[in-house]
Amino acid sequence: MSNVRVGIVGPTGYAGMELVRLVVGHPRMRLVYLAGSGARTGALDAHLPHLHVLADAMPLVEALDVEKAANVCDLVFVALPSGESGRVAWQIWQAGRQHGVKVIDLSGDLRLPADAYEAWYGKAAVPQEAISEACYGLPERHRESIRGASLVANPGCYATACALAVLPLGDLLADVEGPIVFDAKSGVTGAGRAPKEHLHLGELANDAYPYRVGQHQHTPEIEQALGGRVRVLLTTQLLPVPRGILVCAYIAIPPDAAPMVYDRYASFCEDEPFVRLLVYGEMPHIKAVNGTNECHLAVRWDDRSRLLQVFTAIDNLGKGAAGQAVQNANLMFGWPEDEGLRLVPLWM
Ligand SMILES: NC(=O)c1ccc[n+]([C@@H]2O[C@H](COP(=O)([O-])OP(=O)(O)OC[C@H]3O[C@@H](n4cnc5c(N)ncnc54)[C@H](OP(=O)(O)O)[C@@H]3O)[C@@H](O)[C@H]2O)c1
Repeated sequence: MSNVRVGIVGPTGYAGMELVRLVVGHPRMRLVYLAGSGARTGALDAHLPHLHVLADAMPLVEALDVEKAANVCDLVFVALPSGESGRVAWQIWQAGRQHGVKVIDLSGDLRLPADAYEAWYGKAAVPQEAISEACYGLPERHRESIRGASLVANPGCYATACALAVLPLGDLLADVEGPIVFDAKSGVTGAGRAPKEHLHLGELANDAYPYRVGQHQHTPEIEQALGGRVRVLLTTQLLPVPRGILVCAYIAIPPDAAPMVYDRYASFCEDEPFVRLLVYGEMPHIKAVNGTNECHLAVRWDDRSRLLQVFTAIDNLGKGAAGQAVQNANLMFGWPEDEGLRLVPLWM
């Protein structure tokens, strides 16, 4: 059964190490290639001792060799810093296109048109050809295109949590007045593993604050994921917890549509394996989704302000990164969408 040969580029990073955990546990995947910058090579569990239990199932970490990645793998996940990741994903895809290698890039490099990317990321974009080839991997919106894709741009963590809060509105989105306001909070692993002063325990413990206000690079990605039909105001905030994203969206739907909204969300979620609508009045918790690929969603109409509130919780490393990447791989290979992803959350 474990016959698809999988490579992970960036396994010593937060998203990459979560991919290792999921790929090793996936019944149809066999981990055959691990590569990074060359700074940390050899046995992965020498760098990440918690993975010792998987030592027998893991190849050694090597310095990245694009040709080798393309030749020894059927599927490669690339989880490198933005600016580097999309370029590497594109090179591997090109090197392996003859034998149909499939590549999933977890960075923002292949998600946006070049001009938007350069404006919001402040970096040079990958070639337009790469952006055009990549399919945006939000299964709840692009499931059929993902099935036929060989290069996928895995969505951002905030973008996933925000888009899933709004997509169930369907055609009601056209009647929304004004911008949609997202109050979004993330755990600190969202910032990656490289040490930064403001992420030290002494700085972040007992604190929480907004950051990149008005400048967060997921803003145009959310607008694009919602079909470019609505303006978005995104406020991103840092929480002193390791993982998890919590979003509250404020949406001015026409008041006469309010009575039908819960049913809309219910019918959307009914067919989605990873988006769960909570009972009216119940609220999502990040602890209830951490370690999983789930998105928990709650809806509340506020009659006083005439605003719809939608709450979503995801694991930034799960549905926001590695879990969603495996969900996309399942679609690309025609497997059950939840294969390898029936995961129990880490409540404590
Ligand atoms: N963290 C999240 O919650 C999250 C969510 C969604 C998407 N993403 C995206 O996923 C990507 C990875 O994020 P992360 O948080 O896992 O980052 P990270 O913790 O900083 O890890 C980055 C990884 O990239 C490797 N690396 C750096 N430069 C490299 C190079 N030139 N060539 C090969 N390998 C290189 C590092 O390996 P070495 O040890 O070899 O240096 C490390 O394994 C980013 O693009 C990020 O935007 C992250």
